[in-house]
Amino acid sequence: MTIRKLTTNDKKSYLSLFNEVKAGIDPLWFMPDEAEMIEFLGQKECTILGAFSKDGELMGYAAILAVSPEIEDVKQMFGKTGAVCEVGLAMVLPKFRPQLPIARIYRDLLEWARSVGFETLIATAHPDNRASCKLCEYAGMKLVATKMLGKYLRNFYTLEL
Ligand SMILES: CC(C)(COP(=O)(O)OP(=O)(O)OC[C@H]1O[C@@H](n2cnc3c(N)ncnc32)[C@H](O)[C@@H]1OP(=O)(O)O)[C@@H](O)C(=O)NCCC(=O)NCCS
Repeated sequence: MTIRKLTTNDKKSYLSLFNEVKAGIDPLWFMPDEAEMIEFLGQKECTILGAFSKDGELMGYAAILAVSPEIEDVKQMFGKTGAVCEVGLAMVLPKFRPQLPIARIYRDLLEWARSVGFETLIATAHPDNRASCKLCEYAGMKLVATKMLGKYLRNFYTLEL
């Protein structure tokens, strides 16, 4: 298995994985703009780490986002200032769960965010999405609130980097 940053050359694999995983879960577990994050690859708004199998298949990925509606919401809710980023968009093809170390990818992303000067990490997850909530907990994030974000119920997690 190889773990590396996705580039715009990975767009086809990214969208194919996104659509397959999304088809298998509750639509309220996703924010509507998540598929579009691929458009921001290579810019400072979005860094996606993906895991590839030996034969080159994209198995799963997760991202650090520097711009998102959740970031603004958390800044307002908790009076946070400074450099805040969001970890999320975690997706693993069902056939690779749970053996793909997505928690390790979260930790790598977190280290990277710290190294480039982010001060606070946030994450959101639907409370019923236990696998997603567990990822946040494994990364050492603290549950600070559960509230609606528009029509989406979300657990809000934060971590000081
Ligand atoms: C979130 C995700 C990336 C996690 O992948 P993963 O860690 O490789 O593996 P799993 O999904 O099997 O789940 C990991 C853990 O959650 C638990 N879990 C999974 N589904 C669960 C459920 N319905 N109820 C309770 N626990 C559950 C597993 O038992 C496992 O727990 P453990 O670590 O204590 O053994 C993957 O589940 C996924 O792609 N989900 C769909 C996309 C998604 O919802 N992404 C987050 C929103 S953006």
